[in-house]
Amino acid sequence: MKLVIEHINKEFKNAQGKALSVLQEINLTINKEEFVALVGPSGCGKSTLLNLTAGLLEPTSGTIKFTEVESNRQPRMSIVFQETGLFPWRSVEENIAFGLEAEGFPGEKRKKRIAHYIELVGLKGFEKSFPHQLSGGMRQRVGIARALAVEPDVLLMDEPFSALDAQTRTIMQEELVTLWEKTRLTTLYVTHNIQEAVMLADRVVLLSRRPGKVSKILEINIPRSDRDKTEYAEEIAEYIRIIWEHISNDARAALMEVNANE
Ligand SMILES: Nc1ncnc2c1ncn2[C@@H]1O[C@H](COP(=O)(O)OP(=O)(O)OP(=O)(O)O)[C@@H](O)[C@H]1O
Ligand SMILES: [Mg+2]
Repeated sequence: MKLVIEHINKEFKNAQGKALSVLQEINLTINKEEFVALVGPSGCGKSTLLNLTAGLLEPTSGTIKFTEVESNRQPRMSIVFQETGLFPWRSVEENIAFGLEAEGFPGEKRKKRIAHYIELVGLKGFEKSFPHQLSGGMRQRVGIARALAVEPDVLLMDEPFSALDAQTRTIMQEELVTLWEKTRLTTLYVTHNIQEAVMLADRVVLLSRRPGKVSKILEINIPRSDRDKTEYAEEIAEYIRIIWEHISNDARAALMEVNANE
């Protein structure tokens, strides 16, 4: 199975009815068991692309489809947002149950499935807790477990750790690597944190400032689980440098444009 994004253009209308071009001619294929990070400056259309992929928005033109589907059912997607959007009145296990309930997943199997994902994201012992009793990192784990529990074919994540403090974020990144090695889910991950993209992804896709276009694709050729080892520190730093150089050129060009228009 592959997720194929082809010739995607997206325009929004502003309050005056004027068209704002947000994404232009996006072509991207996400292969089975591939982790792709989407990086770009604020407002370049990252969330828009993710929401288009999830089917929450309609493209102005272009298609997003699955090819080489092995099973006879339509592939499923799950999404994790920056704000987890947990139900405050539901406990951890009830929040995770949500997608399964919506699918009419039978009771006994559901319990087992929920217990499995609670264990996987390290929330054992917190099944009956409510969101307000959890730290930000733990709430994000609930959000991730809820997304995984429906056993999607594709996982979409929109800056899932950006609301967390730096230390928690690093821990969550490491945990996501471990989790990903266990699930190997085809993943599209939005972030504007370059270091995070380099630590997590097989490929990093850079979007230019609005209208977002794919400006560069970088393959990270270091085994994911070794990326925090000191022997790779230099190589990691080099990837980060290349990406930063590319993005900062773009950001500078944007600044010049603003100055020129003044
Ligand atoms: N529903 C909408 N109607 C009109 N304009 C929109 C809508 N959604 C997004 N936009 C505009 O489209 C552009 C891209 O937005 P988007 O949220 O995709 O950016 P982003 O790359 O995710 O930014 P950030 O890094 O800040 O999250 C922005 O200029 C935004 O104002
Ligand atoms: Mg966004």
